[in-house]
Amino acid sequence: MNQKILAAVIVLGAAGFVVIGGGWKHDGGAEPGVSRIDGGAVLATPAAMPVIQTAAAPMEMAAPLEAGPVGDPVAPNYMSDRLRLFEAHWQGMDGRLMTRELARKLGYPLDSTGILLGEVTLQAARSGLRGGDIVVKVADIPVRNIEEFQAVTKDLMNRTEAKITVLRKDTKSAQALRALSIVLRGDGILGFAQVEGAPQILAGDPRPHSARGPCTTCHPIGKGFELTPDPDLISLPPPVIAREVAKREVPPHENSGPCEACHVVR
Ligand code: HEC
Ligand code: HEC
Repeated sequence: MNQKILAAVIVLGAAGFVVIGGGWKHDGGAEPGVSRIDGGAVLATPAAMPVIQTAAAPMEMAAPLEAGPVGDPVAPNYMSDRLRLFEAHWQGMDGRLMTRELARKLGYPLDSTGILLGEVTLQAARSGLRGGDIVVKVADIPVRNIEEFQAVTKDLMNRTEAKITVLRKDTKSAQALRALSIVLRGDGILGFAQVEGAPQILAGDPRPHSARGPCTTCHPIGKGFELTPDPDLISLPPPVIAREVAKREVPPHENSGPCEACHVVR
């Protein structure tokens, strides 16, 4: 989704819609759905099995995750217990929170709120929803943020269809939006939206987006609980292969060049 949003920004940028710049700032409390953090949870990761401890206030870690080069203890993973949500997936909708920053970057009216659909597939696409639509109501109940969106979908989870009200860009006027009602028909019951927050970042990571308030409102901080290496990026060293195998010149993977370039052939 991030890359698609970026791609959308670039596309719209080429069309002359985008004002690039980090000038816009907001107080985290001013937007709907922003909860102030007054407590937090500290997540400790002992080597084998992650134990999640929650507490009203951030706690001191008993044991550091691992020592830095000079033996300094490394801060533990930190995750607020009130992380804001950013993405939702429901019936082929890939939606994210519409913010003032996004509205500015993508050329929507600045006061737009709702769930911006970055991409639609499956039932959402078949029902007529489109990327760029802003979902503002589900079953006539207003949805201003991901939390509200998920809550209403939970109420409807056993239904097979639901009315979705979206704002769609008018093809004639870049800034005008028109409201449309679309009946989302599920393939069986609708189920409820799955949600995501902002990615986990490391303490000291630079901020690649405009100012949005304290990092911990949205990001867990620390190394996280990912499987390393990332399963998408696993690359094993090329094994030694037999001369007969090399002679056939048919690699079991995609053609990457002469076998000898990467494999020891024996
Ligand atoms: C209001 C929510 C919010 C706040 C506050 C916030 N971010 Fe983010 N950040 C996001 C979201 C959402 C993304 C995912 C990309 C996007 O949509 O812009 C992101 C992306 C990032 C990324 C890229 C991470 C990745 O793996 O792609 C970094 C690094 C980052 N933020 C750092 C920071 C830092 C540092 C701060 C504090 C100074 C901060 N952010 C404050 C919401 C926030
Ligand atoms: C550019 C480097 C490169 C070239 C050229 C290459 N390979 Fe490989 N090969 C690899 C790597 C890396 C792996 C390990 C892939 C993995 O498991 O992620 C591999 C794995 C293999 C395996 C183990 C089975 C598998 O899929 O893991 C065989 C057999 C093999 N290669 C045969 C060949 C043959 C035969 C050729 C020549 C026709 C060839 N390779 C050319 C890089 C290369």
